[in-house]
This record gives sequence, structure tokens and C-alpha cells, in this order.
Amino acid sequence: MERKRVLVVGGSGYLGQHLLAALAAGGEVDIAFTHHRDTPPQPLLHALPGLRAFRVDLRSGDGLRAVSESFGQLRQVAAAAIGGGVVAVDGADAGRGRCLEGSIDTEKYLSFGSDRGHADWVVKKLRHANLMPHVIVNCAAISVPRQCETDPAAAMATNVPSSLVTWLLSFGNDNTLLIHLSTDQVYEGVKSFYKEDDETLPVNMYGKSKVAAEKFIIEQCSNYAILRSSIIYGPQTISPVAKSLPIQWMDSVLSQGQQVQFFNDEFRCPVYVKDMVDVVLSLTKSWLADGKAVQVLLNVGGPDRVSRLQMAESVADVRGYSHSIIKSVSASSVDRGVASPPDISMDITKLTQMLGIKPISFQDGVRATLAAEATILLGEASTNFAENCGSIKTVSGPSATSLMQVKSKTDINEGLNSYACSC
Ligand SMILES: NC(=O)c1ccc[n+]([C@@H]2O[C@H](COP(=O)([O-])OP(=O)(O)OC[C@H]3O[C@@H](n4cnc5c(N)ncnc54)[C@H](OP(=O)(O)O)[C@@H]3O)[C@@H](O)[C@H]2O)c1
Repeated sequence: MERKRVLVVGGSGYLGQHLLAALAAGGEVDIAFTHHRDTPPQPLLHALPGLRAFRVDLRSGDGLRAVSESFGQLRQVAAAAIGGGVVAVDGADAGRGRCLEGSIDTEKYLSFGSDRGHADWVVKKLRHANLMPHVIVNCAAISVPRQCETDPAAAMATNVPSSLVTWLLSFGNDNTLLIHLSTDQVYEGVKSFYKEDDETLPVNMYGKSKVAAEKFIIEQCSNYAILRSSIIYGPQTISPVAKSLPIQWMDSVLSQGQQVQFFNDEFRCPVYVKDMVDVVLSLTKSWLADGKAVQVLLNVGGPDRVSRLQMAESVADVRGYSHSIIKSVSASSVDRGVASPPDISMDITKLTQMLGIKPISFQDGVRATLAAEATILLGEASTNFAENCGSIKTVSGPSATSLMQVKSKTDINEGLNSYACSC
């Protein structure tokens, strides 16, 4: 039976990498991802060796053809076509024909119009070959609002996935589910707990580009899920991303013991990254199992509406920092170079009812994030320790500290030094 294929566009980013790790752990599908930087993140490929990587620029669509040429069933069709000296392909089959050209040595095998019978056979095969992934998850974006504000043209060209959708539709079938990541910043932010059918009125370029993307997908596609995500937080990725992660950033500034300002009047429903991954996996599994097309738009957030101040307090509580170093200020006291909606907390009733997924509380998510970070540090330190000192005989966790108190490599190394080892 044909193995199902999932393509994660923007798989080198924060959510993309977490999703790839979860898909690879499931082991049920063939997986490819796209990156935009020149080379794919090597630690990711090293950790998940089965992945295929493609360089794609969504602004132009460059690189998408390579995906259909080598991540679909085209290779088999091309191999079969080679025997006959092929083929002119035009009209509705042009997209597929162009892909075929890319898959075989055209100099050697393409003699246009030479053998109509064989040409018809190839065209028929092409029509029935599934050249597209069964699921495409679009995580690619310029996701930093300030960057969108300074270069609106790039924000629109990247965040509205017109090249991706055009490529998808050029194959003329409904065999692909498109899962597209949108944002809570489509809402104006003047009330609490927005519902999916509330008016969208973004206050910045990032939100505007995401509204335009949603509209484009809804108009063009017949099988899609659009996920309006709140802040996604959680552990670092396999190949660390360059941008600062919210919980880790708060932890690092608070750990210095100096007073830090946090906004008391900007509200979000942050979602733990594993919950977001579960939403994508759930939609993917349903489509692959029952093949029922969907047209769905969902708010995806955590259950708690929290200000930045409350987020910092949660980090402090988990770490045992004093609240006295957390200074409460209004967002209006700082010019961030981009408008930010005050309250874009979201109602997630539709999500929980439709998928049966109940995202974890913010406090539990902070605990899980910091514990996971400590585990990553412990793993790195154990490897370094073993490389430098020989094998470790006994490792059961740092003796002096609990995982929650592990904040740095120094903590870990001090803990490890207390173990028996065969240096
Ligand atoms: N993270 C959040 O808190 C959050 C909140 C709400 C919504 N979202 C949305 O969720 C999605 C995933 O977010 P994220 O945090 O994972 O984003 P991210 O870490 O910024 O990753 C963005 C991805 O887009 C790729 N990319 C950038 N420009 C591109 C271009 N011109 N063509 C093709 N690919 C391009 C990047 O490739 P390279 O890495 O190779 O440069 C990267 O893989 C985005 O749509 C974002 O807007 C995120």
C-alpha cells in the first residue's frame, strides 16, 4: 500500500521542528520539510535521519517543483515512461508534464509527439499518480511582527501562501489536506475571549498579512484547516532557533535578580507547543483515516487568559524567584515599533469540542517547559562528561538539586561531579 506523505513547510522553524519530531516518533508516514535558509538545520537531520529536506522560497515558489518531482509518485511514472520515448503533455496536464520533464533526462527520452499511444498511456498514468503529499502543514512565515512592519511587501509575499496554494491546485485533485498556521493577532484586541466568527481587525502588518492568507485559502482551497494560534511556548527545538523563546527569556532575565518590567494590560492565551502539535496530528490522522475533506477555522490557545505580568509570575513561582523583582507596567509605557493588540485572549470551545483536545494550564506548561530544558541540559552535560571522562556508571539526576532548580550547565556539572564515574 502507498505510504502516506506529510510535508511540513517551514519545518526548520520553532513549531515545524517540534512537529517533525512528533511525526518521526509516530513512524507512520513519510516526512519531508522545507527550509528557507541556504542549508537545512544539520542537528535536525542528524537526529531525525529519515526526513527529506527541500529549500523553498514561498515568495516566488522556487523549490516547490522539486518536492513534487521527488516526494510524490512521479519517479515511478517517470521510470515507466522512459521505456517508450515520450511525450507531449499540455492543457490540464501541463503541471504534471513539467514535473515529469524534471524527473527524467529530457535530452535522452523526450521526443515530443513521437508516439501518441505511449503519450496517452503516460498522461493517464500521470493523472492517477499522486504527486502531492497527502498533508501539507504550512508553518512558514515572517512571524516577528516588527519585521512585518518594517517590510510589509515581504510580509505579504511570504505570509500569504499564494505560490504554495497555486502549486497545490496545479495538480487538480483533492487528495491533500492543507493545515495553515494563522495567529490570534487577526483580532483587534478590544475584548476578551474572541470566537472564530468574531470580526477580524488586525492592528499591525503581521495580523493583516495573516488575514489576507486566511481569505486566500478559504477562497481557493476545498480541504483546509486554519489554526489561529496564540503564543506558542515550550522547550527549545532540536536545532535551536535564533529567536528568544518566551518562558526561557523570562527565566533568564528573572534569574539575574534585578527588577524587570512586564506589561499588566496585554492578554493572551499561550499554548504549550505539544498541545499545538497534537492539534495538527489529530487533523492529520482524521484526514488520513477517513478521507473526509474539511473547511475549518479554529482558535488554538491554552485555557488561561494571562497578562505578560502573570506569565512572569508563573515562571517566578515555578523557579522560586521573589515577585518583588517583577515590576508591573502598562504596555503603553514602551514603544516597540509596532502596534500590539491589548487583549486577544481566545475562546477555544470549538477546538475542544471538535478534536477533544484539552490544552494544559499555563502553570503546568511552564513546569513542563523548564523541566524539559533541564533535561536537555542534563543530556548535553552527560554527553560532554562521558566524552571527557569516560562512561558514566550511574546517572539518576543531580543529587543536590531538583530538576526545577536546574538553570544552567554549571548546576548540571556540579550535580554530575557528585556521581560515581569511571574516569
Ligand atoms: N511561535 C508563536 O508563538 C506563534 C504564535 C502565533 C502564530 N504563529 C504562527 O505559526 C507558524 C509557525 O511559527 P514559528 O514560531 O514556528 O515560526 P518561525 O520559527 O519563525 O519559523 C518560520 C519558518 O518560515 C520559514 N520561512 C521564512 N521565510 C520564508 C520564505 N520566504 N519562504 C519559505 N519559508 C520561509 C523559515 O525558514 P528558515 O528557518 O530556513 O529561515 C522557518 O522555517 C507561523 O505561521 C507563525 O506566524 C506562531
